[in-house]
Amino acid sequence: MCRTIPSGVLGRLARFEAMALTTVLDAALDRAVAPGYTRLGSSLRRRWWPADPEPGCLVGRRVLVTGATSGIGEAMAASFAELGATVHLHGRNPAKVAASARALRLSHPGAEVVEEICDISDLDAVRTWGAELAERLPALHGVVHNAGTMTRERTESAQGHEMSLAAHVLGPHLLTHLLAPTLAVEPASVVWMSSGGMYGAGLRTADADEIEYRTGSFNGVQAYARTKRMQVVLAEAWAHRLAPDATLVTSMHPGWVRTPGVSEHLPAFDRITRPTLRTPTDGADTAVWLVATRPESHAPHFWHDRAQRPTTAGWQRDEDPARVASLVSYVAEATGTPPLA
Ligand SMILES: NC(=O)c1ccc[n+]([C@@H]2O[C@H](COP(=O)([O-])OP(=O)(O)OC[C@H]3O[C@@H](n4cnc5c(N)ncnc54)[C@H](OP(=O)(O)O)[C@@H]3O)[C@@H](O)[C@H]2O)c1
Repeated sequence: MCRTIPSGVLGRLARFEAMALTTVLDAALDRAVAPGYTRLGSSLRRRWWPADPEPGCLVGRRVLVTGATSGIGEAMAASFAELGATVHLHGRNPAKVAASARALRLSHPGAEVVEEICDISDLDAVRTWGAELAERLPALHGVVHNAGTMTRERTESAQGHEMSLAAHVLGPHLLTHLLAPTLAVEPASVVWMSSGGMYGAGLRTADADEIEYRTGSFNGVQAYARTKRMQVVLAEAWAHRLAPDATLVTSMHPGWVRTPGVSEHLPAFDRITRPTLRTPTDGADTAVWLVATRPESHAPHFWHDRAQRPTTAGWQRDEDPARVASLVSYVAEATGTPPLA
């Protein structure tokens, strides 16, 4: 005997099943790493991920992209301009900044592009530029801490900090501190561009020597991954601090993206994975979407392909609160800013 099921119920059931299937598929891509991080991951997820930002949704808004003279940052600046934002295009090399700004104005006639120059690893330079920027801008609606680097040998910044730490953690932290009041004027977003590489590194912050990678033999890829892990932890602390100001703070990873940085720093990886790598625009997508749509976000605020992701892989423990506290206090001391927690 046939039972009649109302079509509304059938429709809801089908939608529920489709949602359950995409959730499982999405999580499987994430766990499997390689397929999820390559262009396959984003091309599949694009079928079910949240809607694109509305065209023109950033008209009248200002967004700062650090490290916008190459790769993901350069593509991101173009995507923000596409949505109508005034783009503060940052780099450390004036000639590169001028060239990227010129290219952006050519590709997006009418785009408002402001050139910003500062070595993000140099805390004195960041202090001067960040204070001047805060003074100059009436409001700022987005900052993407995108600038990134990798060194072969242990090198030090102008103030004597290990270079990955200075460029990925200390400089962006100080800049966030200086820009926080300008970000608080209207609802805003701060995005920390981390890396899936951070899954391969625990929080190594027991003491100053460990944070500065003065102990053990130096490995540039490890230094990179450790500081990318620190970015995720610090972003969560900033999210907590700036929530009352309606400033959304998140971190994310872009997957594996074909950029000059990857060709230069990881040539073997680049050679092997090249056909599968994402385009820089694809790598920039989630940062642009986060700033443009300000989605609801829950701690630990780590995103990839327009969805929140775990910050630890299956075999890893959650962050040790003592190591988080050690990092937060070191960063405050090194940058001369009040502790976050
Ligand atoms: N590509 C990937 O597969 C991938 C994967 C995971 C995470 N990421 C992250 O995505 C971000 C962008 O990477 P990318 O692949 O696009 O790299 P990229 O092509 O090397 O671009 C890096 C940008 O950061 C700038 N930069 C580096 N050090 C700086 C400093 N001290 N001060 C100011 N600017 C500085 C560079 O400027 P110069 O041109 O002057 O050096 C450049 O504009 C990085 O944070 C990276 O860790 C990338």
